[in-house]
This record gives sequence, C-alpha cells and structure tokens, in this order.
Amino acid sequence: MKLKKRGANYLGLCPFHNEKTPSFTVSPAKEIYKCFGCGRSGNTISFLMENEKYSYVEALKWLAAKYNVEIEETESSPELKLQQQAAESLHILNGFAQKYFTDKLFNSEEGQDIGLSYLKERGFREDIIMKFQLGYCLEAYDAFAKEALAAQYSPEYLQKSGLVVIRDGRTIDNYRGRIIFPVHNQTGKVVGFGARIIKKNDRAPKYINTPENEIYVKSKILYGSYFARHAIDKHDECLLVEGYTDVISLHQAGIENVVASGGTSLTQDQLRLIKKYTNNLTIIYDGDAAGVKAAQRGLDMALEEGLNVQLVLIPDNDDPDSYVNKIGASAFRDFVSTNKKDFVLFQLEISLKDLGKDNNKKALLVNQIAETISKINKAEDFTKQQDYIRQCADLLKIDEAGLHVLVNKFIRERVTKFESKAQANEAISQQNTAEFQPDDADHDLLNLLNKDEQQERAIIRSLLEFGLKSWDDEKRVADFMLEEFTDEDMIDNKSLVEILDTYKNWYRQGLEPTSKNFLYQEDQHLSMLVVSIMDFPYELSPNWKDHYEGKIPTREELYKEEVVSTLNYLKLRKIKRLMEMNQKDLEKSGNAEEQLTYIQTHQHLKNMEKELLQHIGTVIVK
Ligand code: UTP
Ligand code: MN
Repeated sequence: MKLKKRGANYLGLCPFHNEKTPSFTVSPAKEIYKCFGCGRSGNTISFLMENEKYSYVEALKWLAAKYNVEIEETESSPELKLQQQAAESLHILNGFAQKYFTDKLFNSEEGQDIGLSYLKERGFREDIIMKFQLGYCLEAYDAFAKEALAAQYSPEYLQKSGLVVIRDGRTIDNYRGRIIFPVHNQTGKVVGFGARIIKKNDRAPKYINTPENEIYVKSKILYGSYFARHAIDKHDECLLVEGYTDVISLHQAGIENVVASGGTSLTQDQLRLIKKYTNNLTIIYDGDAAGVKAAQRGLDMALEEGLNVQLVLIPDNDDPDSYVNKIGASAFRDFVSTNKKDFVLFQLEISLKDLGKDNNKKALLVNQIAETISKINKAEDFTKQQDYIRQCADLLKIDEAGLHVLVNKFIRERVTKFESKAQANEAISQQNTAEFQPDDADHDLLNLLNKDEQQERAIIRSLLEFGLKSWDDEKRVADFMLEEFTDEDMIDNKSLVEILDTYKNWYRQGLEPTSKNFLYQEDQHLSMLVVSIMDFPYELSPNWKDHYEGKIPTREELYKEEVVSTLNYLKLRKIKRLMEMNQKDLEKSGNAEEQLTYIQTHQHLKNMEKELLQHIGTVIVK
C-alpha cells in the first residue's frame, strides 16, 4: 500500500474497499486510520486484525517482531518451546531455500535454459513468476544441500523440511531438476514447497510436496491464500481451484481471489480459513468425474460451516490454467459468472439424470439430499435451508412436507449422537471437579457486566435450564418464553440473540434443546458463552426469606417466577427506552396536535410500566 503525505496525515487507496481516488487517511500523531469512502477506522492493532485477519495476539506478535520489541509470554511448556523453536528454524531455512531456488531460476544458465524457458513457454510472465517466488532446483546431486550446510543449516532440519533426503549417509537434494513452487502461509512466510517435474517421466511423481512437519500441515494450507486474501475480502468471494498453476495463471489474468486445495478434497480447517474472509465459495474444477467427486466430498462440510457453495465446471480436457490461456482473461471471467451453479441443486440435477426410472435409487437419492440439507444447521441459515427443501422437493417431484420430515430426522439423529457425547464428557469432568473451580477472574468479569447484561444472561439461562419444563396444562416454558420474545430488540447482546435464535430454530424443528447442545458447537465463542451463563452466580433477593419463612426455595421450585420476573425486567427496560425516545420527539415537536399524541403515548407507556412493576417484586439477580 502506498501512502502520500498530506499535511499532518497520509493519504492513499483504501485496502478495505475498491476505489480509484484515495480516501484512506492515516494520522501518525493520533495513531489511527480512517477511510472516508467505506468508513472503516481504527488503530494499528485493529488494522492488522482487519487487513490481515490476524487475531489480537497475532497482531501484537507481528508488531513486536517488526519493531524488535520483546513481548513477555506466559511460561510455556518445554514441549511447546521445542516446537516453537523447530517452527522458527524451519521458517528460516525455507526462506533461505526459496531465495536460493529463485536465484538459480533467474541467474544460473541451467535455470534459465530449463526452468525459466519452461515457465515462459507455458505463458507465465516474469512479474508473476517473481510475485509467487517460483524457483528452480539444479539437477546436480547436492548443489543445494552443500550450500545450506555451508551456511550452517543443520542436517536434521534440512531433512525435516523435505528439501533434502539422506541416503546411505549422503545428503541429496530432493527436488533435483524441478520447478519450485513455494507455499506461503497467511502471513507470507514460506512453509513448504511443491516441486514439479519438467521432463516427462512416468516413474517419478509429477509433484513432490513437503512432508508434514511443525509448519507444513497439509490440512491447514490453502495454496495462494497469502496473495488472495485482500481480493477475497473485496469481492466477498473465494474461488477454489485444484493446482498451483491454476492459481498463478488466474492471478496473471487479474483474477486474484483464488486459492488451491492441492488436488485433494477440502478439509474443515481449510474451510474455516476461507470463512475468515467470506461466506461465498465458488469451486472451479475440471469437468471430469474425478474433479466433481472431490468437490462433492467437501460440499457437506462446507454447508456445515455455513458457506454458500457454487460450482463452475471447466469444459473438455482443460483445467482453469489451460482454459484461461486458451480463451483469455475477460472471456474466462464471463464464463465463470454465467456458468456458476448452486452446488446442492447441481448435484441433485446430475443425480436425477443418472436415475432414470429406478424407484429404489430415487429413494436413496432423496435420503442423500435430505442429509445434505440437514447439514445446513446454523440459525442464520434457516431460510436457506427452507429454500433448499422447497427447490429440491420441486426437482424431485416429491411432497415438500415429506422432505421436511426427513431433513428433521437427520438433524435429530445428529443431536442425539452429540448429546451422548456431551454426557460422556460430563461424566469425565465430574471426576475432575477439583480442577474446575471457577477462579476469581471469572467473578471479576461478571461484576463488570452491567445489570442489563446480567438480566439478559439470566433470561437465556432460564430458557436453557427450564425450557422443557411445563408452563401450564398446554405449554412448556419454552413455548411461553418464545411467544414473549416477539420483540426483536428485547436483548441487546448479539451473541445472546444468536443463542436464542438457535434455540428457537431447534425447538421449532421438534428438538428438545438444552444447554448441552450448545457446549460442543463449532462456534467456540457461543459455547464458551453458554458455559459462563450456566455458571452464573446468583443470589436470592432478601425479601424472599420473608415470604417463605425459614425455607429458602430453590430456583428449580420457583422457575416460573424467575422467568416472569426476568422477562419483566427486559420489558421494563424496553418501555423505558421507548419513553425516552418519545420524550425527545415531544421536545422537538412544535405542533400541538402532535404533542398531544406524544403525551398520550407517554401516559400509555407509564401505565404499562406500572403494571409490570407490580410483578417485579422478586428480582432474581442481584
Ligand atoms: P494437476 O495434475 O492438475 O497439476 O494436479 P496442475 O497443477 O494442473 O499442474 P500442471 O498444469 O500440469 O503443471 C493438481 C494439483 O494436485 C497436486 C498439486 O498440488 C497440483 O497442483 N498434485 C498433483 C500433487 O500434489 N502431486 C502430484 O503428483 C500431482
Ligand atoms: Mn494444469
């Protein structure tokens, strides 16, 4: 990013949105930035978190490393330290190797004649070759190993990195005569390599990849993510291809929001990485059956992660790399946008074609599609799930309600499994209760929460704890409470609203949710929140003792009171807010008739408040 000085500030193009005229300003004095185009602003830490998608800790570490500041970390275990040392050594070695290979590609005769000419013949431009830091490994037996050993790199790490192999006590270069594709992590460090053969050779593998080690964990790597991250953010879409060369060719064509899975099916970690940037995943694969199969295996997982998955198939025998070279950048872009298909519907359409009139096969297919749809199970995706049920029932020519039931069956099966897992875990944790004493820090934190938030937590706790108990002859507590929560803005805290929505969703589908269902959720943040809610310290209000001489009732006995009084608190808060707004409107208004309406509204709200106050004698939370 380039910034120009403008008075006391610096001005440049905003990294967070697409713009042609600069509106991104940085104030060194105030240590903040602000974009007048998209409105984003913050400080150094939030810039790194936003722009690089770092966590808070990662951002601090990055800054500390940049300015050579030592940050004190809490004592880590000896194993962890060893692992960090190994990781650090491997990073340094890989950086050295990358520079060595790039140097050989451009500056050695063999590199130019064999490596560079091969890449140029394939149509790669020099600026793109440099951007991706491609390289070449000489054919000689141990040219690289010698140089690395001379530079004091240890044989142990050389072997661990996969750069060399040791055979009969001799150190041999592993990537001899191959083009080197460095693999970068999200922060741009080289974690490994893919080394492609140049000459045709049936006995050698086409690519040799780095073996798994402390920093090269295949399931967590998406090739190209470092170069794609900003474009993915900007376009709110991530394109997924299979290979190294596909990523590089698309970049060269100006399509930069692209990453590669390395030819295997997607893993959950890779999908989460994508989710950090966008919810929209577009898979671009070869039209051959193998490509589609690989993509299909990732589909259910992607749906579970809440991603919208679309698919584009490249025709004939091409892959994205050869196809973009064949038809050119703009035609390729058009092709992608016009051939994008919703993956779930696409899968169904192909299966239907294969099906013919075989009714047994159709039953299997219906089951399969119901299971796929059941994986879309996040509260915010509820409508998406309903849409799929409708569209798929239509395509399958079956009853929509029937498909609904089937989808619910799959959801229920999973929840049951997950509950027994939760129970098993609970049994284990009860054996270790001594280690699970809440510490003082937790209580301090809770004291910091304001009363409003405590009440909000209390209501969610009541729902989780008592939801399945009976309310009256017809209703359960959950029925009553969900009816009462018609006003969307009764709860402020977004995460609590999310828990409420998830509960609602599960409950409406006929499940019987409890706090346990939340504990092992993918969303760590939500499950942690549920844990702390269920741990919530509470006190009986003093006037209860007067009511029930001697015997202090337990919460279990008084759950209805708890529900009503917490709900009333939230309703009162809402009325207070409405009154304030009404008051402001009244002050602004210059029209007598209008003023009268405001006064009547005020009176009405006041009456509601009074009525509620009569029931709020028994506030549960301190
Ligand atoms: P491809 O065979 O499609 O290779 O494998 P490619 O990327 O299109 O390469 P070119 O265009 O023929 O040069 C797709 C991906 O599968 C992995 C690599 O990540 C490759 O980019 N792969 C393939 C391997 O890891 N090892 C292999 O032997 C082959
Ligand atoms: Mn290819």
